[in-house]
Amino acid sequence: MRPAPSQDAPSAPCHVAIIMDGNGRWAKARGLPRVAGHRSGADAVRRAIIACRELGVRYLTLYAFSSENWKRPQDEVDDLMGLLRHYLRRELAELHKNNIRVRVIGDRSRLAPDIQGLIGQAEQTTAGNDALTLVIAVNYGSHAEIVAAARRIAREVKEGRLDPAAIDERLFSAHLQTVGIPDPDLLIRTSGELRLSNFLLWQAAYSELVFIDTLWPDFDKKHLLEAISEYQRRERRYGASSG
Ligand code: IPE
Ligand code: IPE
Ligand code: MG
Repeated sequence: MRPAPSQDAPSAPCHVAIIMDGNGRWAKARGLPRVAGHRSGADAVRRAIIACRELGVRYLTLYAFSSENWKRPQDEVDDLMGLLRHYLRRELAELHKNNIRVRVIGDRSRLAPDIQGLIGQAEQTTAGNDALTLVIAVNYGSHAEIVAAARRIAREVKEGRLDPAAIDERLFSAHLQTVGIPDPDLLIRTSGELRLSNFLLWQAAYSELVFIDTLWPDFDKKHLLEAISEYQRRERRYGASSG
């Protein structure tokens, strides 16, 4: 028997990914140093996590630092790393209490050893949590991720552990750092920039993209709800004909 049409409100996207952009412009508009924008951005991170958990989003991926952000002045890189360190130290207990699982993607080998330690500790402590998976992208870039996957696959072939004929999309995905994480349903970028900046290029193949003008430090639950409503109005086709 066919199930009765659901009367429920449309469900939240399973995976929301956010390019948190505009901290510098937020600070500049207030005559403040850029670090003030990044600090205020950390408050927006807290709000986004709480809102996603409340709305039943299962995965939230936040682009915190790209593999290209090392090009910024050393002072700013130091400030961003300092904030990440501070965030991991200060928020771990709260995240764990809220049953949130933490995962970090990106090349962590270039991060300070103590930050690598804090990341490992956050991932281990929260590994059994299941209310929301918070994926933090740090020193992350899609090109580097895809190249690293290709290199690992090539090595497996060379060592005779993998038949080239077995390389398909599924196997390739499983060599990316996002293994086990469903692809983003909704990808939001704040601050009015209309590009992906090397974020989840493989994984976002069929994500619904929502660009909003709000600068990241001003982002709150209202903006998330608006982006989700926009997502719910879209028809996802995955290449099929329109219905
Ligand atoms: C996003 O804000 C934070 C990071 C990229 C780390 P920006 O620092 O890029 O802010 P704008 O784009 O200069 O305003
Ligand atoms: C993308 O923002 C990276 C993060 C939000 C961490 P950027 O501000 O670095 O991107 P571009 O330089 O404008 O493309
Ligand atoms: Mg920016």
